[in-house]
Amino acid sequence: MEQQTASKKRIFSGIQPTGNLTLGNYIGALRNFGVLQNEYDCLYSIVDMHAITVRQDPAELRRACLRTMAIFLASGLDPEKNIIYFQSQVSQHAELGWILDCFTYMGELQRMTQFKDKSAKHADNINAGLFTYPVLMAADILLYMTDLVPIGADQKQHLELARDIALRFNAVYGDVFTVPEGYFPKVGARVMSLQEPTRKMSKSDPEETYIAILDKPDVIRKKLRRAVTDSDTHVVFDPENKPGVSNLMAIMSALTGRSLDVISAEYDGRGYGVFKDAVADSIVAALEPIQNEYDRISADKAYLESVMVSGRERAASIAYRTMLKVRKKVGLAALKL
Ligand code: AMP
Ligand code: TRP
Repeated sequence: MEQQTASKKRIFSGIQPTGNLTLGNYIGALRNFGVLQNEYDCLYSIVDMHAITVRQDPAELRRACLRTMAIFLASGLDPEKNIIYFQSQVSQHAELGWILDCFTYMGELQRMTQFKDKSAKHADNINAGLFTYPVLMAADILLYMTDLVPIGADQKQHLELARDIALRFNAVYGDVFTVPEGYFPKVGARVMSLQEPTRKMSKSDPEETYIAILDKPDVIRKKLRRAVTDSDTHVVFDPENKPGVSNLMAIMSALTGRSLDVISAEYDGRGYGVFKDAVADSIVAALEPIQNEYDRISADKAYLESVMVSGRERAASIAYRTMLKVRKKVGLAALKL
């Protein structure tokens, strides 16, 4: 049975398997997963149930799930050290989601900015799942007694809600859930669109606005050359007045570990062409090894299948134990007589 190492804290994070994962997902989330795997007990879930809150093509969704798992592995996540699995294959997520729905207020969900954004974008399909999406996310996190949740800044509001739900539940039933904390990257918590640098880079926006983790070097260079900057030649970090340049600086800093000051000193006044090419180089250098690994891993279907099965079993054994406790506290019919 899966045991949490006494001294290690537990980490949980989820990524939706829709479309192409972007450089934003990589810098905001995935890259940090690899860094955390040695110090924490980690679960990383491909949240396919969250993905169906908007309409998906079934065959494409299934392929996207496997692609996402292959990208996780290619970015250096070790499936022995981490539990990597598909959310829908551990049915306790849905079960706990329902219970937590009964501990969440309509008003709280109405305040969620992602719900407001998504319902504006999918006005013909404002379904109840889209509305309760953050509760399923809370269930994902609380099911595993998670201490830390590595996420980009856009998920902060959802994490706060998960904390509120945990505290509310604990106030009624005693200390059932661990109350999770967010874990945000220092630079790159919010990678912005290349075309509209005041909006976050998102895989559901048009191609030219984002870099996909699997974009080839020539595509990356082309997208960078077309990225929105300004009319002067200054490379200074000023997100308010120079959002485009500041975004590219943050990307370069996140990927190379060089400070914003060092980058500014090196590229200021040399023209945006030179700067953009250098940013493209740093992206290519970070993504090319992942792409090579991805090609190798995604060709090995048996390996992907084995990671999927073992991840599911390991996650389910923890989830089952949490649900025994939760069901008992709430007063649902016992599973074990
Ligand atoms: P999603 O693609 O919405 O499932 O997001 C998966 C993870 O990537 C979450 O932790 C997000 O916060 C993070 N993420 C998504 N887009 C960005 C972005 N543009 N900048 C930084 N982090 C991001
Ligand atoms: N809602 C998150 C996003 O869109 C994905 C997600 C689902 C998640 N469940 C989670 C992230 C649990 C962290 C923990 O980015």
